[in-house]
Amino acid sequence: MNPILYFLRDIRKTGAVAPSSKYLASDMVRFLSEKTEATGKPLRILELGPGTGTLSKAIINVLRPQDKIDMVEINPHFCRMLRRKFSHPGMNVHYADLLEFRPEETYDYIFSSIPYESIPKNITRLMWDKKLELCKPNGLISYYKYVNFNYFRCKYEKDLVKKYCIDKTLVFRNLPPAQLFTLRVSKPESTLKHIPTRKNLASPIRIAQNKPEKVVVTATA
Ligand SMILES: C[S@@+](CC[C@H](N)C(=O)[O-])C[C@H]1O[C@@H](n2cnc3c(N)ncnc32)[C@H](O)[C@@H]1O
Repeated sequence: MNPILYFLRDIRKTGAVAPSSKYLASDMVRFLSEKTEATGKPLRILELGPGTGTLSKAIINVLRPQDKIDMVEINPHFCRMLRRKFSHPGMNVHYADLLEFRPEETYDYIFSSIPYESIPKNITRLMWDKKLELCKPNGLISYYKYVNFNYFRCKYEKDLVKKYCIDKTLVFRNLPPAQLFTLRVSKPESTLKHIPTRKNLASPIRIAQNKPEKVVVTATA
């Protein structure tokens, strides 16, 4: 099936009408290219919500054989597609929810396509705490927001962007146009000592505990 059809069929879960454009993807990897050119040291990359792999392709194109990339995707169909499409030696696709993902090491660079606009604010906050927990000191986080959505529904996210943002780029050639942010997290500090998993989250958020592809997040308050 054409990737666009998957996005349209499951718009609530994917949080987008279409995969990212190649223009957004190439702007997103600008800082990663600079990093790979500046150092011979292997880098650890994390991609959250890779979907059908438009951004993954751009990331893999700048990676060297010694680099590692973990992709975390909640949709099992997308996971299978990614494993078929790409063959970088350091690539691992994890069929998981970001909030349940427990890697052994932190990352130099995190790319996120998690659709915060379709997620309750307190879950967005947990996801940001999780990203801070997974980021090395001075690590970079790149992510985007669609410009037709109300900017920053979550104040915590807005404050983090204010504190750490080193670059903002508006990408018109994307459906819809997107604002891309890159953050340098000098000293990652999540506000929580232990990020709760979906299972032990307290009310008022009710999380359906089905298989990951059926996770539904519903505000009960
Ligand atoms: C807006 S799409 C972006 C896809 C792709 N990166 C692109 O730019 O075309 C968001 C992706 O995040 C995934 N996703 C949503 N919530 C997630 C979660 N909690 N953990 C992991 N992946 C998630 C969705 O399944 C979807 O593939």
